[in-house]
Amino acid sequence: MSKLTPVLSAFWDEKDSFTIEGYKRNGGYKAIEKALSMAPDDVIKTVKDSGLRGRGGAGFPTGMKWGFIPQGDNKEHYFVVNADESEPGTCKDTPLLMANPHVLIEGIIIGSYAIRANYAFIYIRGEIAHVVRRVQQAIEDAYKAGYLGKNILGKGFDLELVLHVGAGAYICGEETALLDSLEGFRGQPRLRPPFPAIAGLYARPTVVNNVESVASVPSIINNGIEWFSSMGTEKSKGYTLYSLSGHVKNPGQFEAPLGITLRELIEMAGGMRSGHKLKFWTPGGSSTPLFTDAHLDTPLDYEGVAAAGSMLGTKALQIFDETVCVVRAVLRWTEFYKHESCGKCTPCREGTWWLVQILKDLESGKGEAADLDKLLDLCDNIAGRSFCALADGAASPIISSLKYFREEYLEHLRSGGCPFDPAKSTVFELAGSER
Ligand SMILES: Cc1cc2nc3c(=O)[nH]c(=O)nc-3n(C[C@H](O)[C@H](O)[C@H](O)COP(=O)(O)O)c2cc1C
Ligand code: SF4
Repeated sequence: MSKLTPVLSAFWDEKDSFTIEGYKRNGGYKAIEKALSMAPDDVIKTVKDSGLRGRGGAGFPTGMKWGFIPQGDNKEHYFVVNADESEPGTCKDTPLLMANPHVLIEGIIIGSYAIRANYAFIYIRGEIAHVVRRVQQAIEDAYKAGYLGKNILGKGFDLELVLHVGAGAYICGEETALLDSLEGFRGQPRLRPPFPAIAGLYARPTVVNNVESVASVPSIINNGIEWFSSMGTEKSKGYTLYSLSGHVKNPGQFEAPLGITLRELIEMAGGMRSGHKLKFWTPGGSSTPLFTDAHLDTPLDYEGVAAAGSMLGTKALQIFDETVCVVRAVLRWTEFYKHESCGKCTPCREGTWWLVQILKDLESGKGEAADLDKLLDLCDNIAGRSFCALADGAASPIISSLKYFREEYLEHLRSGGCPFDPAKSTVFELAGSER
């Protein structure tokens, strides 16, 4: 029996799912009628009681975040959506925006009303030009239909929504770097406190939420907290998008309750590609420690994955079979982090550069056994000692691969090079890689 619970993805197969007509035909824009008739605090309470946790990586409770915005402070408040999706392997917000941009707009209207914001922004990744066009069209259609602008649905609530196109930096997905970039500055993380809820965009109280978090809100308003919290596990409620990529027969988006296992998801994806077996995988994108086939039955919720030594992150499940050299894959990810380090702090800026040099040597069999401990030592001086979580993410694949695949690193040294046949290797060069 399928354990899928399609909500956000329920109508993606319909050819006009992205239009306002298609969205309304399937019950869209009903939740704002309900939400705008409620007191803003009751909307916040509903989201809080549903147990919805942020889908952008950290799993912070969404309703609680909204509740942090000071009320009656006579300041402008801002609602900002993080659509910068750039984590390697993470590919859920982009298809969601492509197939159903109006569910995000409806969520933004509800969230802005709840935190008393009259201005909202979507910060979208610049490289996905086709999605930018689609979201811009959806915003224009929502304005024409009276869902955005002045006096929405005659309820006396005004909301202006701006789509801001980023220039393609991974760090601009970090919420405070995003705010700096939105203000027109170079995107680099800010010192906290103050947190965005107190001094965010233009130093005003601001909520920053992931696309999927915001898009989940209309279904909660429509169907109620019992419905939402009947899915998932004790502390990780609801449904979510799991993105399976790599060596499964049918990669793609699988919308299922939190707590499902990789074994069940791989089964739904048609299994591993024929004749191959699972070697390693990421539970939440490349910033989360690797898992192996020993973790196939780990419940994919925030607590289950943490208890097994990793993080649920963005639920980006990148699946690698036995043809992939783990050292090579880790080198590729590390090159990404080195390239995307914003340079603000020394451990990350310099440390990621050194990690790449050592990994290059190891991968080509030129290193020495002591380099493995040097890698761990460097990681120890980077993770937790840098300004933002990019640096922690850079260390994760290295530390975890050494934990599970130390022998494979050593085998490179014994063979004087990569023991994997390059013709069979499926790890491609990064575009622009300096190798
Ligand atoms: C380097 C880095 C990149 C990030 N990229 C994204 C991103 O592309 N999208 C996103 O929603 N969150 C991203 N985050 C997490 C955000 O800082 C923030 O936690 C999130 O937008 C909050 O939304 P949520 O509470 O709805 O999960 C990133 C964090 C870091 C450290
Ligand atoms: S940890 Fe890296 S990305 Fe984050 S602020 Fe420091 S240099 Fe920039």
